[in-house]
Amino acid sequence: MLIAGNWKMFKGPQETRAFVDSFQPPEGVEVVLCPPFVSLEAALTGPHTIYAQNVHWEGSGAYTGEISPEMLLELGVQGALVGHSERRQLFGETDEMVARRTRSALESGLGVIACAGETLEQRESGDTELVLKIQVEAIAFAAGEYEKLVIAYEPVWAIGTGKTATPEQAEEAHRFIKGLTDRPVLYGGSVKPENAAELLDQPSIDGALVGGASLDPDSFAAICRAASPS
Ligand code: 13P
Repeated sequence: MLIAGNWKMFKGPQETRAFVDSFQPPEGVEVVLCPPFVSLEAALTGPHTIYAQNVHWEGSGAYTGEISPEMLLELGVQGALVGHSERRQLFGETDEMVARRTRSALESGLGVIACAGETLEQRESGDTELVLKIQVEAIAFAAGEYEKLVIAYEPVWAIGTGKTATPEQAEEAHRFIKGLTDRPVLYGGSVKPENAAELLDQPSIDGALVGGASLDPDSFAAICRAASPS
């Protein structure tokens, strides 16, 4: 099981250090923290695996505001999220950009958690599988034979809304994604200590990508315990 915490635009270096000092996940669960870029170094002072929230495809160049895989590696960061729905919806990321970020990060040796998911409108018009197919195939094709890729299924309508996909809805989407690519698939969208166990119990759910509930060390540790084998 892999449990990743996406902090989004929360926690500067000071709050990050405080989190790392008090966060105690159980043994036997792979945990990843994804702080904002400016807090990566502070997060790396702890014992946890640290991923960035995005990564550019070039090694260096005139790309204001972007960070390269090499820069992350120099810092000791082990991977990156790519294609989060907030990047796609608010910052115009296309499947092509997500594919390039994925490819370059994997080539440089970083791990990648690549996100896919449908909006409410797409779900209601019956397009969930089509959307997932387009997004996941772009990612899987870009990743080729590289191993360190994990897919995160994040239905956009369940992100930050308190509306979780039912375990059955999540399982159905995960099974569909696994039919497209043979990769671990995390579920993301309003995962909390109260609903983590029933989601993680589903056979095709290999872990979680947690937003809001990963900001508090106790609630994030509780979610990690729900994934723990003991
Ligand atoms: P919430 O857990 O806050 O719904 O966010 C999910 C998410 O977007 C994780 O990447």
